[in-house]
Amino acid sequence: MFQKSRHAAAALFAMLFLFTAAVHAQTARLPRVSILATGGTIAGTGATSTTTVGYTAATVGVQALIAAVPEIAKVASISGEQVFQIASENMGNEHWLVLAKRVNALLAQPDVDGIVITHGTDTLEETAYFLNLVVKSRKPVVLVGSMRPSTALSADGPINLYNAVNLAGSPAAVGKGVLVAMNDQIHAARDVTKSNTTTADTFRTTELGMIGYIQGGKPYFYREVTRKHTADTEFDVSRLDVLPQVDVAYAYANVGDVAVKALVASGAKGLVHAGVGNGSLPAKTRPALIAAREKGVVIVRAARVGQGIVARNGEANDDQLDFVVADTLSPQKARILLMLALTRTSSTREIQRMFHTY
Ligand code: SIN
Repeated sequence: MFQKSRHAAAALFAMLFLFTAAVHAQTARLPRVSILATGGTIAGTGATSTTTVGYTAATVGVQALIAAVPEIAKVASISGEQVFQIASENMGNEHWLVLAKRVNALLAQPDVDGIVITHGTDTLEETAYFLNLVVKSRKPVVLVGSMRPSTALSADGPINLYNAVNLAGSPAAVGKGVLVAMNDQIHAARDVTKSNTTTADTFRTTELGMIGYIQGGKPYFYREVTRKHTADTEFDVSRLDVLPQVDVAYAYANVGDVAVKALVASGAKGLVHAGVGNGSLPAKTRPALIAAREKGVVIVRAARVGQGIVARNGEANDDQLDFVVADTLSPQKARILLMLALTRTSSTREIQRMFHTY
Protein backbone atom coordinates (compact mmCIF):
# COMPACT_ATOMS: atom_id res chain seq x y z
CA MET A 1 0.00 0.00 0.00
CA PHE A 2 2.82 2.38 1.06
CA GLN A 3 4.85 1.26 -2.02
CA LYS A 4 1.84 2.00 -4.29
CA SER A 5 1.32 5.54 -3.04
CA ARG A 6 5.08 6.21 -3.38
CA HIS A 7 4.85 5.25 -7.07
CA ALA A 8 1.77 7.40 -7.56
CA ALA A 9 3.52 10.39 -5.97
CA ALA A 10 6.60 9.87 -8.18
CA ALA A 11 4.42 9.67 -11.30
CA LEU A 12 2.56 12.83 -10.30
CA PHE A 13 5.84 14.64 -9.66
CA ALA A 14 7.21 13.55 -13.07
CA MET A 15 4.04 14.76 -14.80
CA LEU A 16 4.21 18.10 -13.00
CA PHE A 17 7.87 18.44 -13.98
CA LEU A 18 7.14 17.71 -17.65
CA PHE A 19 4.16 20.10 -17.67
CA THR A 20 6.25 22.93 -16.13
CA ALA A 21 9.09 22.27 -18.62
CA ALA A 22 6.62 22.35 -21.52
CA VAL A 23 5.06 25.60 -20.31
CA HIS A 24 8.52 27.11 -19.84
CA ALA A 25 9.65 25.98 -23.32
CA GLN A 26 6.50 27.51 -24.78
CA THR A 27 6.94 30.87 -23.05
CA ALA A 28 10.71 30.94 -23.68
CA ARG A 29 10.32 30.23 -27.41
CA LEU A 30 11.69 33.09 -29.46
CA PRO A 31 9.27 34.71 -31.91
CA ARG A 32 9.88 33.63 -35.51
CA VAL A 33 10.44 36.66 -37.70
CA SER A 34 11.05 36.65 -41.47
CA ILE A 35 13.11 39.50 -42.86
CA LEU A 36 12.30 40.38 -46.47
CA ALA A 37 14.95 42.62 -47.98
CA THR A 38 14.16 44.97 -50.85
CA GLY A 39 17.24 47.26 -50.96
CA GLY A 40 17.49 50.95 -50.05
CA THR A 41 20.03 52.86 -48.00
CA ILE A 42 19.83 50.34 -45.17
CA ALA A 43 21.57 48.03 -47.67
CA GLY A 44 23.73 50.85 -49.05
CA THR A 45 27.48 51.40 -49.03
CA GLY A 46 29.57 54.55 -49.34
CA ALA A 47 33.19 55.19 -50.31
CA THR A 48 34.17 56.29 -46.78
CA SER A 49 32.70 56.31 -43.29
CA THR A 50 31.76 59.97 -43.73
CA THR A 51 29.92 59.40 -47.02
CA THR A 52 26.31 60.10 -46.09
CA VAL A 53 25.26 61.46 -49.46
CA GLY A 54 26.36 60.17 -52.85
CA TYR A 55 26.57 56.55 -51.65
CA THR A 56 25.14 53.56 -53.50
CA ALA A 57 21.84 52.17 -52.22
CA ALA A 58 20.90 48.47 -52.42
CA THR A 59 24.26 46.68 -52.48
CA VAL A 60 24.37 44.62 -49.23
CA GLY A 61 22.49 41.30 -49.27
CA VAL A 62 20.02 40.17 -46.64
CA GLN A 63 22.33 37.63 -44.98
CA ALA A 64 25.02 40.30 -44.53
CA LEU A 65 22.39 42.68 -43.10
CA ILE A 66 21.35 40.05 -40.57
CA ALA A 67 24.95 39.10 -39.75
CA ALA A 68 25.76 42.76 -39.05
CA VAL A 69 23.29 42.78 -36.13
CA PRO A 70 24.01 39.56 -34.17
CA GLU A 71 21.84 40.92 -31.32
CA ILE A 72 18.67 40.10 -33.25
CA ALA A 73 19.36 36.36 -33.01
CA LYS A 74 18.93 36.74 -29.22
CA VAL A 75 15.43 38.19 -29.54
CA ALA A 76 13.99 36.28 -32.49
CA SER A 77 14.45 33.21 -34.59
CA ILE A 78 15.28 34.82 -37.93
CA SER A 79 15.00 33.81 -41.55
CA GLY A 80 15.96 36.13 -44.41
CA GLU A 81 14.92 36.46 -48.04
CA GLN A 82 16.13 38.82 -50.72
CA VAL A 83 12.92 39.81 -52.51
CA PHE A 84 14.40 42.69 -54.56
CA GLN A 85 17.62 44.69 -54.46
CA ILE A 86 16.56 48.17 -55.60
CA ALA A 87 16.61 51.81 -54.58
CA SER A 88 13.05 52.58 -53.59
CA GLU A 89 12.52 55.32 -56.18
CA ASN A 90 12.27 52.34 -58.56
CA MET A 91 9.54 50.61 -56.56
CA GLY A 92 6.61 49.88 -58.85
CA ASN A 93 3.14 48.37 -58.72
CA GLU A 94 4.61 45.09 -60.00
CA HIS A 95 7.02 44.97 -57.04
CA TRP A 96 4.16 45.62 -54.61
CA LEU A 97 2.12 42.75 -56.00
CA VAL A 98 5.06 40.33 -55.66
CA LEU A 99 5.83 41.58 -52.15
CA ALA A 100 2.22 41.43 -50.97
CA LYS A 101 1.80 37.86 -52.22
CA ARG A 102 5.01 36.78 -50.48
CA VAL A 103 3.99 38.49 -47.23
CA ASN A 104 0.56 36.85 -47.32
CA ALA A 105 2.06 33.42 -48.06
CA LEU A 106 4.53 33.71 -45.18
CA LEU A 107 1.98 35.01 -42.70
CA ALA A 108 -0.32 32.10 -43.53
CA GLN A 109 2.38 29.75 -42.20
CA PRO A 110 1.99 28.80 -38.53
CA ASP A 111 5.77 28.99 -38.06
CA VAL A 112 5.94 32.73 -38.91
CA ASP A 113 4.99 35.20 -36.17
CA GLY A 114 5.84 38.46 -37.93
CA ILE A 115 7.59 40.07 -40.87
CA VAL A 116 10.17 42.82 -41.22
CA ILE A 117 10.64 44.44 -44.61
CA THR A 118 13.85 46.37 -45.15
CA HIS A 119 13.18 49.15 -47.68
CA GLY A 120 14.52 52.38 -49.09
CA THR A 121 13.06 55.36 -47.28
CA ASP A 122 12.01 57.36 -50.35
CA THR A 123 8.83 55.37 -51.01
CA LEU A 124 8.70 53.37 -47.79
CA GLU A 125 5.48 55.08 -46.69
CA GLU A 126 3.78 54.08 -49.96
CA THR A 127 4.75 50.40 -49.76
CA ALA A 128 3.66 50.42 -46.10
CA TYR A 129 0.21 51.82 -46.99
CA PHE A 130 -0.23 49.43 -49.92
CA LEU A 131 0.52 46.45 -47.66
CA ASN A 132 -1.73 47.95 -44.96
CA LEU A 133 -4.61 47.58 -47.43
CA VAL A 134 -3.83 44.13 -48.88
CA VAL A 135 -2.15 41.99 -46.20
CA LYS A 136 -4.65 39.41 -44.99
CA SER A 137 -3.35 38.78 -41.49
CA ARG A 138 -3.29 40.37 -38.06
CA LYS A 139 0.32 39.31 -37.50
CA PRO A 140 2.79 42.21 -37.34
CA VAL A 141 4.34 43.56 -40.53
CA VAL A 142 7.02 46.19 -39.94
CA LEU A 143 8.81 48.30 -42.53
CA VAL A 144 12.23 49.64 -41.71
CA GLY A 145 14.94 51.59 -43.47
CA SER A 146 17.81 53.86 -42.63
CA MET A 147 18.96 57.30 -43.60
CA ARG A 148 22.69 56.53 -43.44
CA PRO A 149 24.33 53.76 -45.46
CA SER A 150 25.69 50.71 -43.64
CA THR A 151 29.28 51.99 -43.96
CA ALA A 152 28.62 55.41 -42.37
CA LEU A 153 29.62 56.67 -38.93
CA SER A 154 26.59 56.26 -36.67
CA ALA A 155 24.74 54.21 -39.27
CA ASP A 156 21.11 54.03 -38.14
CA GLY A 157 20.33 50.78 -39.99
CA PRO A 158 21.47 48.29 -37.30
CA ILE A 159 19.47 49.82 -34.42
CA ASN A 160 16.45 50.35 -36.67
CA LEU A 161 16.62 46.69 -37.76
CA TYR A 162 16.99 45.51 -34.16
CA ASN A 163 13.95 47.59 -33.15
CA ALA A 164 11.92 46.39 -36.14
CA VAL A 165 12.61 42.72 -35.35
CA ASN A 166 11.60 43.23 -31.73
CA LEU A 167 8.42 44.97 -32.87
CA ALA A 168 7.54 42.29 -35.45
CA GLY A 169 7.99 39.60 -32.82
CA SER A 170 5.94 41.37 -30.16
CA PRO A 171 2.37 40.26 -29.30
CA ALA A 172 1.70 43.96 -28.60
CA ALA A 173 2.01 44.69 -32.34
CA VAL A 174 -0.62 42.12 -33.38
CA GLY A 175 -3.66 43.70 -35.07
CA LYS A 176 -2.11 47.16 -35.32
CA GLY A 177 -1.83 47.15 -39.12
CA VAL A 178 1.38 47.67 -41.02
CA LEU A 179 3.89 49.62 -38.95
CA VAL A 180 6.99 51.67 -39.67
CA ALA A 181 9.86 51.46 -37.16
CA MET A 182 12.41 54.23 -37.54
CA ASN A 183 14.45 56.30 -35.11
CA ASP A 184 13.04 54.53 -31.99
CA GLN A 185 9.50 55.45 -33.05
CA ILE A 186 6.49 53.45 -34.25
CA HIS A 187 4.30 54.97 -36.95
CA ALA A 188 1.09 53.70 -38.57
CA ALA A 189 1.40 53.10 -42.32
CA ARG A 190 -1.58 55.26 -43.28
CA ASP A 191 -0.37 58.52 -41.82
CA VAL A 192 3.42 58.48 -41.72
CA THR A 193 5.51 60.41 -44.23
CA LYS A 194 9.14 61.11 -44.98
CA SER A 195 9.56 64.74 -43.99
CA ASN A 196 13.24 65.58 -44.47
CA THR A 197 15.59 64.75 -47.35
CA THR A 198 18.49 63.48 -45.24
CA THR A 199 18.11 63.56 -41.45
CA ALA A 200 17.71 60.42 -39.32
CA ASP A 201 14.45 61.69 -37.76
CA THR A 202 12.82 62.12 -41.15
CA PHE A 203 9.75 59.90 -40.56
CA ARG A 204 6.92 61.87 -39.01
CA THR A 205 3.21 61.54 -38.44
CA THR A 206 3.00 65.25 -38.04
CA GLU A 207 -0.45 66.16 -36.73
CA LEU A 208 -2.14 62.81 -36.09
CA GLY A 209 0.91 61.57 -34.19
CA MET A 210 3.09 58.49 -34.11
CA ILE A 211 1.61 55.57 -32.19
CA GLY A 212 4.48 54.50 -29.99
CA TYR A 213 8.15 54.25 -29.05
CA ILE A 214 10.65 51.42 -28.96
CA GLN A 215 12.93 51.62 -25.97
CA GLY A 216 15.49 48.99 -25.02
CA GLY A 217 14.01 46.83 -27.79
CA LYS A 218 10.55 46.91 -26.19
CA PRO A 219 7.59 48.52 -27.98
CA TYR A 220 5.38 50.93 -26.05
CA PHE A 221 2.07 51.85 -27.71
CA TYR A 222 0.15 55.02 -26.83
CA ARG A 223 -2.45 55.35 -29.62
CA GLU A 224 -4.78 53.10 -31.59
CA VAL A 225 -5.16 53.07 -35.34
CA THR A 226 -8.84 53.77 -36.08
CA ARG A 227 -9.04 53.31 -39.87
CA LYS A 228 -9.63 49.75 -41.15
CA HIS A 229 -6.61 47.83 -42.38
CA THR A 230 -5.11 44.42 -43.27
CA ALA A 231 -7.51 41.56 -42.44
CA ASP A 232 -10.45 44.01 -42.32
CA THR A 233 -10.20 45.43 -45.85
CA GLU A 234 -12.10 44.39 -48.97
CA PHE A 235 -9.02 44.28 -51.23
CA ASP A 236 -7.54 41.05 -52.54
CA VAL A 237 -4.50 41.08 -54.81
CA SER A 238 -3.90 37.33 -54.74
CA ARG A 239 -4.97 36.91 -58.38
CA LEU A 240 -3.78 40.25 -59.76
CA ASP A 241 -0.69 40.73 -61.93
CA VAL A 242 -1.33 44.36 -62.74
CA LEU A 243 -3.06 47.33 -61.11
CA PRO A 244 -5.15 50.00 -62.88
CA GLN A 245 -3.16 53.02 -64.02
CA VAL A 246 -3.61 55.91 -61.60
CA ASP A 247 -1.43 59.02 -61.67
CA VAL A 248 -1.00 62.23 -59.71
CA ALA A 249 -1.25 65.70 -61.28
CA TYR A 250 0.42 68.33 -59.10
CA ALA A 251 -1.04 71.82 -58.79
CA TYR A 252 0.89 75.07 -58.34
CA ALA A 253 0.52 78.75 -59.20
CA ASN A 254 0.08 79.13 -62.96
CA VAL A 255 -0.67 75.40 -63.47
CA GLY A 256 -2.51 74.57 -66.68
CA ASP A 257 -4.04 71.42 -68.12
CA VAL A 258 -1.03 69.85 -69.88
CA ALA A 259 -0.32 67.21 -67.23
CA VAL A 260 -3.96 66.17 -66.81
CA LYS A 261 -4.50 65.86 -70.57
CA ALA A 262 -1.25 63.91 -71.05
CA LEU A 263 -2.03 61.50 -68.23
CA VAL A 264 -5.52 60.83 -69.55
CA ALA A 265 -4.11 60.33 -73.07
CA SER A 266 -1.58 57.83 -71.65
CA GLY A 267 -4.43 55.66 -70.36
CA ALA A 268 -4.99 56.70 -66.74
CA LYS A 269 -8.12 55.15 -65.26
CA GLY A 270 -7.87 57.39 -62.23
CA LEU A 271 -6.25 60.74 -61.46
CA VAL A 272 -5.34 62.27 -58.13
CA HIS A 273 -5.43 66.05 -58.28
CA ALA A 274 -2.79 67.19 -55.75
CA GLY A 275 -4.50 70.52 -55.29
CA VAL A 276 -3.36 73.64 -53.48
CA GLY A 277 -4.98 74.46 -50.13
CA ASN A 278 -8.15 72.44 -49.54
CA GLY A 279 -7.73 70.63 -52.88
CA SER A 280 -8.81 73.69 -54.89
CA LEU A 281 -9.36 73.42 -58.63
CA PRO A 282 -7.43 76.05 -60.63
CA ALA A 283 -9.54 77.56 -63.42
CA LYS A 284 -7.08 76.42 -66.12
CA THR A 285 -7.04 72.78 -64.87
CA ARG A 286 -10.73 72.37 -64.05
CA PRO A 287 -12.08 71.85 -67.62
CA ALA A 288 -9.53 69.06 -68.27
CA LEU A 289 -10.50 67.30 -65.04
CA ILE A 290 -14.19 67.59 -65.88
CA ALA A 291 -13.54 66.25 -69.41
CA ALA A 292 -11.54 63.37 -67.93
CA ARG A 293 -14.41 62.46 -65.61
CA GLU A 294 -16.82 62.56 -68.56
CA LYS A 295 -14.56 59.98 -70.24
CA GLY A 296 -14.88 57.72 -67.17
CA VAL A 297 -11.62 58.62 -65.39
CA VAL A 298 -12.16 58.74 -61.62
CA ILE A 299 -10.93 62.04 -60.15
CA VAL A 300 -9.81 62.28 -56.53
CA ARG A 301 -9.27 65.74 -55.09
CA ALA A 302 -6.36 65.64 -52.64
CA ALA A 303 -4.19 68.39 -51.15
CA ARG A 304 -0.48 68.95 -51.55
CA VAL A 305 -0.50 70.68 -48.14
CA GLY A 306 0.36 67.57 -46.13
CA GLN A 307 -2.16 67.89 -43.29
CA GLY A 308 -5.92 68.18 -42.90
CA ILE A 309 -9.17 66.88 -44.37
CA VAL A 310 -10.09 67.76 -47.95
CA ALA A 311 -13.70 68.82 -47.42
CA ARG A 312 -16.25 67.19 -49.71
CA ASN A 313 -18.20 69.91 -51.58
CA GLY A 314 -15.84 72.49 -50.06
CA GLU A 315 -13.60 74.06 -52.72
CA ALA A 316 -15.56 72.27 -55.48
CA ASN A 317 -19.05 70.86 -55.84
CA ASP A 318 -17.98 67.21 -55.79
CA ASP A 319 -21.57 65.94 -55.93
CA GLN A 320 -22.16 67.82 -59.17
CA LEU A 321 -18.73 67.07 -60.70
CA ASP A 322 -18.89 63.44 -59.57
CA PHE A 323 -15.45 63.76 -57.96
CA VAL A 324 -14.13 61.96 -54.86
CA VAL A 325 -12.20 63.62 -52.02
CA ALA A 326 -9.07 62.10 -50.48
CA ASP A 327 -9.97 62.82 -46.84
CA THR A 328 -6.56 63.18 -45.10
CA LEU A 329 -4.56 60.94 -47.45
CA SER A 330 -1.53 62.47 -49.12
CA PRO A 331 -1.69 62.47 -52.95
CA GLN A 332 0.78 59.56 -53.17
CA LYS A 333 -1.31 57.46 -50.77
CA ALA A 334 -4.58 58.51 -52.40
CA ARG A 335 -3.13 57.07 -55.62
CA ILE A 336 -2.70 53.69 -53.90
CA LEU A 337 -6.21 53.57 -52.48
CA LEU A 338 -7.69 54.66 -55.81
CA MET A 339 -5.81 51.88 -57.66
CA LEU A 340 -7.13 49.28 -55.24
CA ALA A 341 -10.62 50.79 -55.27
CA LEU A 342 -10.69 50.52 -59.07
CA THR A 343 -9.96 46.79 -58.80
CA ARG A 344 -13.37 46.52 -57.07
CA THR A 345 -15.67 49.13 -58.57
CA SER A 346 -16.00 52.18 -60.79
CA SER A 347 -18.80 53.71 -58.67
CA THR A 348 -17.62 57.05 -57.28
CA ARG A 349 -20.08 56.68 -54.41
CA GLU A 350 -18.42 53.40 -53.40
CA ILE A 351 -14.93 54.82 -53.92
CA GLN A 352 -15.80 57.80 -51.70
CA ARG A 353 -16.94 55.33 -49.01
CA MET A 354 -13.56 53.60 -49.27
CA PHE A 355 -11.72 56.91 -48.82
CA HIS A 356 -13.68 57.49 -45.63
CA THR A 357 -13.01 53.94 -44.42
CA TYR A 358 -9.30 53.21 -44.98
C1 SIN B 1 15.97 54.63 -51.30
O1 SIN B 1 14.86 55.05 -51.00
O2 SIN B 1 16.17 53.50 -51.79
C2 SIN B 1 17.17 55.50 -51.12
C3 SIN B 1 17.07 56.41 -49.96
C4 SIN B 1 16.98 55.71 -48.63
O3 SIN B 1 16.80 54.51 -48.50
O4 SIN B 1 17.09 56.46 -47.63
